[in-house]
Amino acid sequence: MADSTFRAPKGTRDILWPDSARWRALVDAFADVVGAAGYTQVVPPMFEHVEVFHRLGDATDVVSKEMYEFLDKGGRNIALRPEQTASVVRAFAEHRPVVPWKVWYAGPNFRYERAQKGRFRQFDQVGVEALGPDDPHLDAEVIALAWRFYERLGLRRVTLLVNSLGNPEDRARYVEALTAHFADNRDALSEASRSTLERNPLRVLDSKRPEDADLVAAAPRMDDHLSDDAAEHFARVCGALDAVDIPYRVAPGLVRGLDYYLRTTFEFVAEALDAAQDAVGGGGRYDRLAEEMGAPPTPGVGFALGVDRTLLACDAEGVFDAPEAAVDVFVVDTCGGDEAVLLTDEVRRAGLRADRAWDGRSMKAQMKAADRSNAAVALIVGEEERAAGTVTVRDLRGDAGQQAVARGDVVEVLRSRLAPPTAT
Ligand code: HAM
Repeated sequence: MADSTFRAPKGTRDILWPDSARWRALVDAFADVVGAAGYTQVVPPMFEHVEVFHRLGDATDVVSKEMYEFLDKGGRNIALRPEQTASVVRAFAEHRPVVPWKVWYAGPNFRYERAQKGRFRQFDQVGVEALGPDDPHLDAEVIALAWRFYERLGLRRVTLLVNSLGNPEDRARYVEALTAHFADNRDALSEASRSTLERNPLRVLDSKRPEDADLVAAAPRMDDHLSDDAAEHFARVCGALDAVDIPYRVAPGLVRGLDYYLRTTFEFVAEALDAAQDAVGGGGRYDRLAEEMGAPPTPGVGFALGVDRTLLACDAEGVFDAPEAAVDVFVVDTCGGDEAVLLTDEVRRAGLRADRAWDGRSMKAQMKAADRSNAAVALIVGEEERAAGTVTVRDLRGDAGQQAVARGDVVEVLRSRLAPPTAT
């Protein structure tokens, strides 16, 4: 048996405390921000019929190279989701909810990528999708929500890039111009870009290879190929971002890795991360996707933020620390443990957080465990207390000392001791 059998597979990892606490705090904060804007949660399945994901574009790396696909025992062609927009739009087409349908989600996605720091084979995203309105102000709302969320985490060094890929006809005309430009200079392109050109000409613009730099810089620009209608839509998105003071940079070369985008696209880049993995989030409009999944034509816009990368960016900026793990009360029982069973239950039912020691350890060992638990207060039951029908309530953090409390008064005393100080 290989040594790696009992290790997490390549590109995956275990999230243990305190990272797990920070993880949850991030999702809670996200739910707060988007919930306050009228988005409700949707929980799509983690796998779908593979055709759902083919709508991301057969020429994209995500679909052609990175998908976890398999035949299930019933012979169905199934894929683990590489992202959640396709699933959410499939759910929209299936359930036909009232529009505007504004939803958020959080959860893992799977891509068979080259694993490295900030790039995993199982990675989590939080995101929103808004289906129904064609209104450019909705694009701006969605972008603003991501921005306000980064602000809430305390991130300061995030750059917002925005672009428009135009209407389908604009995009097609642009792809044609781009293909002609690169095809005319095919021999000067890197080998990798020559192969990208065959599959997905837009993605050549993403090449970071030095030998491609001049040709990419000289390439036709998307903004010269926008119809009036698409240009007007984009101007109104930018106008709304200006109005709410969200800084951005127009990046005509921003094409994104999924094929469903039309008109507005955007990406959030963390300056504190390495350039290869510095996109902490991205999104855009996908106005044809619902129709392709069998719904009536319904525009849509959304984004997803990478949880792993966002937390790496927080590390690099020294913000959004893990919340402290603390219970309110730690129960120490040196009389066999029966009292600890009752006391922890009573205290927890009263709505306080309580932990206890195990295995009938000595008073000293139990008090050590109490310290480690970060509890504010220890409830101590020794022979003396048991005989007197009392519990010793000892302050573990401040200088409130200790007091003997009648057994029946414990919860009330804890409540007054642990109450937050009232403002004066
Ligand atoms: P995406 O750009 O493929 O877009 O992914 C969004 C974010 O997920 C990226 O910016 C990155 O932070 C994170 N991410 C992607 N792949 C990995 C990976 N292998 N390891 C770690 N993090 C990763 C989408 O997924 C679209 N569904 C976004 C969207 C929603 N567009 C419209 N609505």
